[in-house]
Amino acid sequence: MDLHLTSARAGVEERSVIDARLGAPEQGRETGPLHLSDGGSQSAGSRRHLLLPLLHDIQARIGWISPGALNYASSRLGIAPAEVHGVASFYGMFSLSPRPGVVAHICDDIACLARGAGQLCAEVGRKLGPEGSSCAGGRATWLRSACLGLCERAPAVLLTVAGELPRERVAAPAQSEGVVALIADALDSKLPAQPDDLSTQRSVPQAGFPELRLLRRVGQANPSSLEDYQRLGGYEALRRAFDLGPEGIIREVIDSQLLGRGGAAFPTGKKWEAVHLQRHLNKTHYVICNADESEPGTFKDRIVMEGDPFAILEGMTIAALAVGASRGFIYVRGEYPLATERLAHAISSARAHGLLGDNVFGRGLRFDIELRRGAGAYICGEETALFNSIEGYRGEPRNKPPFPTQAGLFRQPTVVNNVETLINIPEIIMGGGAAYARTGTENSKGSRLFCLSGHVARPGIYEVPFGATLRSLIDRAGGIGGNGRLQAVLLGGAAGAFVSPKEIDVPLTFEGTRAIGATLGSGVIMLFDDSIDLKQILLRIAAFFRHETCGQCVPCRVGAVRQEEALQRLVKRQPLGSVDEELAMVREMAQAMRDASICGLGQTASSALESALKRWSLFS
Ligand SMILES: Cc1cc2nc3c(=O)[nH]c(=O)nc-3n(C[C@H](O)[C@H](O)[C@H](O)COP(=O)(O)O)c2cc1C
Ligand code: SF4
Ligand code: FES
Repeated sequence: MDLHLTSARAGVEERSVIDARLGAPEQGRETGPLHLSDGGSQSAGSRRHLLLPLLHDIQARIGWISPGALNYASSRLGIAPAEVHGVASFYGMFSLSPRPGVVAHICDDIACLARGAGQLCAEVGRKLGPEGSSCAGGRATWLRSACLGLCERAPAVLLTVAGELPRERVAAPAQSEGVVALIADALDSKLPAQPDDLSTQRSVPQAGFPELRLLRRVGQANPSSLEDYQRLGGYEALRRAFDLGPEGIIREVIDSQLLGRGGAAFPTGKKWEAVHLQRHLNKTHYVICNADESEPGTFKDRIVMEGDPFAILEGMTIAALAVGASRGFIYVRGEYPLATERLAHAISSARAHGLLGDNVFGRGLRFDIELRRGAGAYICGEETALFNSIEGYRGEPRNKPPFPTQAGLFRQPTVVNNVETLINIPEIIMGGGAAYARTGTENSKGSRLFCLSGHVARPGIYEVPFGATLRSLIDRAGGIGGNGRLQAVLLGGAAGAFVSPKEIDVPLTFEGTRAIGATLGSGVIMLFDDSIDLKQILLRIAAFFRHETCGQCVPCRVGAVRQEEALQRLVKRQPLGSVDEELAMVREMAQAMRDASICGLGQTASSALESALKRWSLFS
């Protein structure tokens, strides 16, 4: 342990931020009881779960988290300083070294690379100095960032401004002059209001189309108005759900054959039933909405949260009724300021109107929802890492079994569902599970949201019934963009697979993509024209996994580093041995990561690379 950390004292401002969240310390007593050996769980009285919100508070107010602040947080929460440091250092949004208060985070991830992020970073570098250096007398800086979930508006920038009134602004699509001007405005305290159009026409080109189900309210109803939501049919499904009762709801969801939209395609009804069946055990059941959405190329959940937040609350409340949960959490990606604001407003509005709280709808259901912000760690989208994160730990996945339905958040039975999965629920309850199962295809029911980005004429999210082909979806989005000559499509995100133009007639279903060795994943469809050097895209993906591995298991921790190194050698034409020998080593490593990693990150970290090697001779 760094002696500096144990002896450093928090400044007045830091103490006041911490005390504001935790309450003033008792007179003459600063330290709570230590929970040094709680082994990943925690006692009911522990306030450890407040650690991440507390770290967010400090970061937002001061711009970085000093050893003194960590020390004081540790003593107030009764957690060892090394533990607090270990947690704070895990999350990318927290800076543990002094950093200027104004930071422009410039995305240089794959969709933005395809749309000029490299040039944007170079120009900003020329104007403001190298990445990470301070400018404006030490008051501002810029940093490269992984995907910000704004891929339809690439290249994207998120500006964070620390202070008493911390602010965040999005600039997308961004140009270097705009970034410089935004920083100047922030320094002059003249930051313009965030334009309110993030979820409308530009991001949802189909907005207002009559055939939409999941997106029918986006851009049509004021997302901050509960009345608007109800005027367009909102909360009718919850009313019907009360009449159906828990068993009836679960029957409809099972009959619908809804598969989770978060990537793993698990049957939602079965998951709910597993938690429901434990209601006699007298445990606290939880419902969690997984809104972490950090898969590069994915932005569908953001648009739903920004454009139709009450639908998520209604889906969660129906889930709570079905499984007997009294508490819910929405774990929202830390880099989504507008979505966070809209959800927070929707929660308090629903609470004020008796749609959350001690007696929901006056029908005796006790259920409330708490909003938690992630802090810049892709792995926290993995459901068990997400539990650890809410509980105030490093976001490291747990071994399964036990599964979340048995021992999830705080080791209690827990349902975790993706945002898109949850907004299907009101549809199913209103129309009936059997009718829902008649839409889509044999093994893929309902409709799906797809995130189109890169070289496509009209990027954005699109809703289509399962079964549409990739070609038809690209046509719907105005055709191929860029130079018009399609080289490759990335399906499913960084953890997905590349397909070639020859495979463009693949049906976008779970079974159709599986048949060509690809996946729908989180609904990413990213197009690259032939001006793009795919090797650079693969390098960026490899760098992403090297950065995001939690490092807990060896195949993933070491494999992610070695994979990137091997790729770098291949790109530089300096393979270890021959190109074929190096490629054989890459494939062997990929196999080991797939077989021996304990979670989906390590198991899929080589998928995109392997799919590309299968389709193209990139290194010969
Ligand atoms: C590395 C990794 C990241 C993930 N990220 C997300 C995410 O951002 N959102 C999400 O809903 N599911 C994510 N998942 C899947 C979740 O673990 C889980 O399967 C899902 O939230 C369950 O919801 P569903 O059944 O509605 O799909 C991720 C999984 C892995 C392995
Ligand atoms: S596979 Fe990777 S991300 Fe998953 S637990 Fe292991 S080290 Fe962590
Ligand atoms: S916002 Fe840049 S790749 Fe998604």
